[in-house]
Amino acid sequence: MQKLSTRHLLGIKDLTPDDIELIMATAREFKEVINRPIKKVPSLRDVTIANVFFENSTRTRLSFELAEKRLSADTINFSASGSSVKKGETLLDTVNNILAMKVDMIVMRHASPGAPHFLSKHISANIVNAGDGTHEHPTQALLDSFSMREKLGTDLAGKKIAIIGDILHSRVALSNIFALRKQGAEVTLCGPSTLIPRYVNELGVKVSHNVKETLAWCDVANVLRIQLERQQIKYFPTLREYSLYFGINKKMLDDLNKEIIIMHPGPINRGVELTSDAADSHHSIILDQVENGVAVRMAVLYLLAGQN
Ligand code: NCD
Repeated sequence: MQKLSTRHLLGIKDLTPDDIELIMATAREFKEVINRPIKKVPSLRDVTIANVFFENSTRTRLSFELAEKRLSADTINFSASGSSVKKGETLLDTVNNILAMKVDMIVMRHASPGAPHFLSKHISANIVNAGDGTHEHPTQALLDSFSMREKLGTDLAGKKIAIIGDILHSRVALSNIFALRKQGAEVTLCGPSTLIPRYVNELGVKVSHNVKETLAWCDVANVLRIQLERQQIKYFPTLREYSLYFGINKKMLDDLNKEIIIMHPGPINRGVELTSDAADSHHSIILDQVENGVAVRMAVLYLLAGQN
């Protein structure tokens, strides 16, 4: 069996291009499995996985849980609200208590960037980062790449991908930038200058502040939510003004003389970054992304379990 170069999935930054290819190929096989009448395989029958969520989640959490069940793993779920974290327990103590119950793998979402990297230095279980603050969200980037490849019918070398919206606060943006550049895609970030971090030039991407020009340039537009919950200061005057300058509607897509693909990791703020007629149009593959998320997470869990 081909192996990943790592025991954990902490971020896309640490993956090699070969790791990404292996995950894509494995996910294609699992996508076939989850579309069969019997959607389950016994691959992780002896593996116990804890989903440890210190931050809110709908899609990511359900998707991991379903992926684990489809692989026949035993699962337990932990969410910080209602737990002893409120009583002052440290992250390491919380996780060590979970591991004492003989857990093999931890899927963790945490508000602090680097939390899964810290854990990986102290515990022996495999760790999957399900989002660490504004840092990385590797499985989202992998499912995004999988969905782009599926729709474009090729790999992503030379493809033009735009990431539009709140880049500064988005772990989806950073993981996508790493993933897309490792696959040879060209990347343009588009948004108000206050929401584009200064270090991005070092990541080999272009920056635009003109959404119409960006749409005319790209093959795929990955549209991100304005993360108001992470904004302590004002980055733009009003949401209405944001949507006027950076929001995307169906007419803008129909006026392009070509077909482009619209993606969004969810949750959508309808009427802010995307109007409903754009989000629900034939351009959009938003629900395909959700379906592919299960297959990609099955691939990641299966390959990491094989590292032990
Ligand atoms: C994203 C997240 O939580 O990072 N959503 C997701 O995982 N599908 C993006 C967001 O919250 O806007």
